[in-house]
Amino acid sequence: MNETTLPTIIADRIRARGRITFAEYMATCLYEPGLGYYTSPGRKVGTAGDFYTSITVHASFGRVIAREIIAAWRSLGCPDEFTLVEAGAGHGRLACDIMDFLAERSVDCYRAVRLVLVEQEPSLAEAQATLLAAHRDRLSWLTPSELPGFRFSGVLYSNELLDAMPVHRVLMGEQGLKEIYVTLDGDQLQDLADAPSTPALAEYLERFGIPLHPGQEAEVSLAGLAWFEDVAECLQQGFILTIDYGWAKAELYSPQRNLGTLLCYYKHTVEDNPYQRLGQQDITTHINFSALIERGEELGLKPIWFGEQSRFLLAAGVIEELEQIEASDLPEKDKLRLRLIIKRLIMPEGGMGDTFRVLVQSKGVADPKLGCLRGISL
Ligand SMILES: C[S@@+](CC[C@H](N)C(=O)[O-])C[C@H]1O[C@@H](n2cnc3c(N)ncnc32)[C@H](O)[C@@H]1O
Repeated sequence: MNETTLPTIIADRIRARGRITFAEYMATCLYEPGLGYYTSPGRKVGTAGDFYTSITVHASFGRVIAREIIAAWRSLGCPDEFTLVEAGAGHGRLACDIMDFLAERSVDCYRAVRLVLVEQEPSLAEAQATLLAAHRDRLSWLTPSELPGFRFSGVLYSNELLDAMPVHRVLMGEQGLKEIYVTLDGDQLQDLADAPSTPALAEYLERFGIPLHPGQEAEVSLAGLAWFEDVAECLQQGFILTIDYGWAKAELYSPQRNLGTLLCYYKHTVEDNPYQRLGQQDITTHINFSALIERGEELGLKPIWFGEQSRFLLAAGVIEELEQIEASDLPEKDKLRLRLIIKRLIMPEGGMGDTFRVLVQSKGVADPKLGCLRGISL
């Protein structure tokens, strides 16, 4: 009997229907129920997984976000009901660090908060519930398909969500735009450039004013943009905080980045071949922050801060976190260890400080008083 594996699913699909878009291929590799990278058992993030996210480095990251959440709540006039939505919540570590900080530092804000977790992989709800047991009465869940119908005031935040959404790949040929599909040569998966599967790809490049040069490859995240349009509608008043790796369009689509930004992570090594270790390796791309900023403005979202994670964390409270560690009665060797760990979050080159960027957008907030605005704003 033929075992159902990702390679057989994908090969069967290509044999039956012909080439498939890279977006379909990536969605299958990452999210095929029970088999995809994010939808199969095993730790993906952290030391035992394939890559680190800022969340897994230290609780200070979540604590600084929590400081901004308290400031966001105050900016809305300290309402009695304030909703936090975390999209792509993974195991719930970030949500837990945030809720712990709110409970410790601002009981009034904590009492107003209800936390809604949204995660593509439903089985993670159990891990989230365990981790967040102390905050159980404030916690609820929505599936990704339920989120678009939800309306709330508060903060929607995500860390490394949009980079995990499927992308189409395009190539500017001498005769115009082509799409890079996935096809089979015998048993071997490979690229195939042909006419685009949808006019939405050329429309995306046109709409955001992205000139690709002949020979240049790039990714287009139609799924990411559609998701963002949905959440922009969900938010009635408050903030959207997006943390991810990516750039503004001029940098993301610059001719120097001729082959796009697609990368694969496996056991803390980085590769660029998406056609190996199907379902075992992460496939990811840098995101186009300009699309979020420009489309956001059309949808009533004001961009109030955009820049490197290091600048965001420094302006929003990581120094206070370090001061607190210094003032604590921890042994000196623990203080040193924590200092070095937190440094990773803010250090450029080899750290996470300038790899990641933060975008803060507001809707219906007359005078946002976030900590990050103490630093350089847009
Ligand atoms: C790179 S992981 C990041 C997890 C966590 N935020 C962190 O920083 O450690 C991306 C997560 O987003 C989830 N995801 C992907 N698409 C989603 C969607 N449309 N809605 C909610 N979660 C999604 C994936 O299942 C995965 O858990």
